[in-house]
Amino acid sequence: NKRIKIKHLIENTYTGETVTVMGWVRTRRSNKHVTFIALNDGSSIQNYQIVADPEKINEELLKKANTGACLKITGTVVASQGSGQQSEIQADRIEILGEADPDKYPIQPKKHSLEFLRENAHLRVRTNTFGAIFRIRHHLAFAVHQYFHQKGFCYLHSPIITASDAEGAGETFQVTTLDLKNPPRDENNAINFKEDFFERATNLTVSGQLEGELAALALSEIYTFGPTFRAENSNTTRHLAEFWMIEPEMAFYDAEDNQNLAEDFLQYIIGFALENCQEDLAFLDQRAAEEEKNKKAEQRSELGLLERLEFVTKNTFVRISYTEALDILRNSKPNKKKKFTYPIDEWGTDLQSEHERYLVEKHFKKPVIITDYPKAIKSFYMKQNEDGKTVAAMDILFPGIGEIIGGSQREERLDKLTERMQELGISQEEMWWYLDTRRFGTAPHAGFGLGFERLVQFVTGMSNIRDVIPFPRTPGNAEF
Ligand code: 4AD
Ligand code: MG
Repeated sequence: NKRIKIKHLIENTYTGETVTVMGWVRTRRSNKHVTFIALNDGSSIQNYQIVADPEKINEELLKKANTGACLKITGTVVASQGSGQQSEIQADRIEILGEADPDKYPIQPKKHSLEFLRENAHLRVRTNTFGAIFRIRHHLAFAVHQYFHQKGFCYLHSPIITASDAEGAGETFQVTTLDLKNPPRDENNAINFKEDFFERATNLTVSGQLEGELAALALSEIYTFGPTFRAENSNTTRHLAEFWMIEPEMAFYDAEDNQNLAEDFLQYIIGFALENCQEDLAFLDQRAAEEEKNKKAEQRSELGLLERLEFVTKNTFVRISYTEALDILRNSKPNKKKKFTYPIDEWGTDLQSEHERYLVEKHFKKPVIITDYPKAIKSFYMKQNEDGKTVAAMDILFPGIGEIIGGSQREERLDKLTERMQELGISQEEMWWYLDTRRFGTAPHAGFGLGFERLVQFVTGMSNIRDVIPFPRTPGNAEF
């Protein structure tokens, strides 16, 4: 018998047919007459009920069908007596593919804490919560490709090993074949990277943007979607050392075109999840509602998870400049103490996440696009505005998340760009290839980066970013 996935068994009528299913036991209960097994194969959040009659199935074998064990079951599909689902399987034959010792298997049929499951990240995907999260993550990734493909963008594979630091924040992971305990030295006693595999110092990429710009100035519209790496030592619920970023880059787009695309893109992919992940989202919506009950009244969000997702797909985002945002923040009383932890008085200071979240969650109660930041707090490649103080940057802020997208129109004028690089001490010799685009056929262009895990966080309602990537990489954590 050919294997049938549980999702298909649930969605189609197989009554009277003999079928084979394979999957992992979630629960088993028995009475004198019969044993019920709830089986899950990951194709759906729903378990499928297997009914085993001790007259047909060896009792010793049934005792091995513990939570976590993997089974192959052949039997007849019959209409179900219970209210939970339409059909169930009356087992003719059960084969134990893999046992799971109930005294040792960590994932028991009860509610485990997320902290406990993080320590068992190799098995946590066998829970309803993580099954739902990773199926939604898949759908979001698929929607990203679908969106850009439909718009005629070309998927560009940017390199993972690079020699540049696109964001200039000095938070790169070095890559080398040298033995750093005993490295070769040059005449100045500096490490001699000439003997490295690449014959130079290299690092893991922090962003595919610079390579994306090269391609956009030939293919017009591209996007990257790949892993990026940052050795920033911020142990927060929003930061990973290894995260996935989607970076579209478009020739002939200005800052406003860039904002329009980002808004439309976010609404499309969130709408795609709402349409295609209904069961998983309904489960997570309930989960989020239960979490809310444990929060203090003032920290509870007004909308439930599904309501939040629908709201974002249906309402236009607020667009304000950094200067306007600062005015709002200066005149606001964020809490009982009427003060932010980080004061926000001086023009030029960067917004902290408490400021961002105040604007989104308390003031506007909508996603907010903040534009035209002071140039001193943004990267070298951003287009300088006429005022000489600001750049054509945008950050998109989401409720519960804060910054989800960062982007800008790019500085396409060679003289302005090199002037800024000089001010910031960025080597023009090393970036000769990047500057070549401004030397030969430069064009206005713009782009942005969406942090994929922050998006998955928003859509699944998970409060810790470690719970939306299968194998989180954070300070001190790279075991599995
Ligand atoms: O704002 P960032 O640093 O912008 C860039 O990297 C640009 N090169 C993007 C572009 O214009 N092409 O990062 C973009 C987004 C952030 O808004 C955030 O969502 C996410 O990437 N991000 C992180 N996500 C998880 N962990 C981290 N450590 C992150 N750092 C940034
Ligand atoms: Mg940013």
